[in-house]
Amino acid sequence: MAEDLLELSVEKIVYGGFGLAKHKGKTYLVRYSAPRELVKAEVYKEKKDYGEAVVVKPLLPSKDRREPLCPYYEFCGGCQLQHIDYEAQLMVKKENYEESLVRIAGIEPPPLEVVPSPRELGYRVRVQFKAKRGTLGFVKWDGTQVVGVERCPVAHERINELIPSLRELTNQIKDLQEVHITFSPTEEEFLIKLITPTYLDKELLKKLKRTYLPPSVVGVGNYFRLRNGLHKRYFVGREYTFVEVGGIKYRLSNDSFFQTNHYLWDKFVELVVEGASFRKALDLYCGVGFFTLPLARRGNFIEGSDSNSVAINDAQYSAKLNGVENALFIKSTAARHLQLRGGEVLDLVVLDPPRSGLIDKEIEVLLSNKPQRIVYISCNPTTFARDLKKLLKAYTLERSYLIDIFPQSYHVESVNFLSLKVP
Ligand SMILES: C[S@@+](CC[C@H](N)C(=O)[O-])C[C@H]1O[C@@H](n2cnc3c(N)ncnc32)[C@H](O)[C@@H]1O
Repeated sequence: MAEDLLELSVEKIVYGGFGLAKHKGKTYLVRYSAPRELVKAEVYKEKKDYGEAVVVKPLLPSKDRREPLCPYYEFCGGCQLQHIDYEAQLMVKKENYEESLVRIAGIEPPPLEVVPSPRELGYRVRVQFKAKRGTLGFVKWDGTQVVGVERCPVAHERINELIPSLRELTNQIKDLQEVHITFSPTEEEFLIKLITPTYLDKELLKKLKRTYLPPSVVGVGNYFRLRNGLHKRYFVGREYTFVEVGGIKYRLSNDSFFQTNHYLWDKFVELVVEGASFRKALDLYCGVGFFTLPLARRGNFIEGSDSNSVAINDAQYSAKLNGVENALFIKSTAARHLQLRGGEVLDLVVLDPPRSGLIDKEIEVLLSNKPQRIVYISCNPTTFARDLKKLLKAYTLERSYLIDIFPQSYHVESVNFLSLKVP
């Protein structure tokens, strides 16, 4: 066997979607492997204390292995678990979550319910394509090239129908780098961001929109990327759409966050608001008020905050639109909002931070203010477990849900209910 080909026995899949194997005492992370199988794998990275490899051939395949559902799967970096049965994907995510709690937070996992996605495919209503000289697709898993795609099975079918028009844009706009799409299944309309390093002539964009895009694309913006953030140059058409979830109509601007799996929107809201009752609550990292507005119907008064002013404007608009009078939205970092309310009696604090989790200042205020209940919605079990370890000084983790909003990917979303310990 060649130097860089190894026979590896994969024990389990760790967070990130890699199989874990040992060879001569060294740990290998094995891409495209399944739990409990023997594979022939090619090593593409050797570090001092670990290596990374990719499966060339399963020798003794796992019972959980299946044919991937997408022809681009072995090149495209978007999905990591497509070659594993959906039931087994859910088990992998449950194990990843529980393992983080044991290893990082140092506790036994609480009662945990796993909520599958009603459909494994066609769930994404927001997709970010990469573009390169006439190619529209996704970055290869090793970061070396853009893999062109005709369709993406996890994307909403309407987004797939738009791909030929989008590819035409990549031919027309030579330095187009990225195309971000948002589809509203409620309104049956699209918002698009075109990311270019240089200014895209506005009259040209108007013409391209008229010529190549259907009327259901209600707005297109030109953006540039700087230090990993997107910045808008201008917008043509309407900058927002509407999305209805659980009887609430949300305004969604192109620059606001929105949960991507439309099959789980109702269930996600239901899990978070279930049993809620409060005199005063905070919803930090609230986005367009996805949880704040339905929560407002269950309590006395709620304040939502987000550092993105566009999302806060959407939330304020939607509060009026839905006749919600007991929710106030402020543009603020979570830390500043918590400090502002640090001295008040709070019954409930909802937290939905990005993957990096909470910062020390936020945990400090939570531990001194001691709200009765915390609902921590996490998209990263390792940062959640790190934060939980600190919160456990004053809180008990009572129950959690895993809600699988990202089938085929390694991402683990959890909703965690914490209550203040009785002194
Ligand atoms: C995972 S999204 C959740 C949004 C909302 N809860 C939802 O479900 O639609 C995280 C949100 O945190 C916001 N954000 C990021 N860093 C922040 C910070 N330091 N303080 C407040 N909001 C922040 C982002 O703008 C984004 O809207």
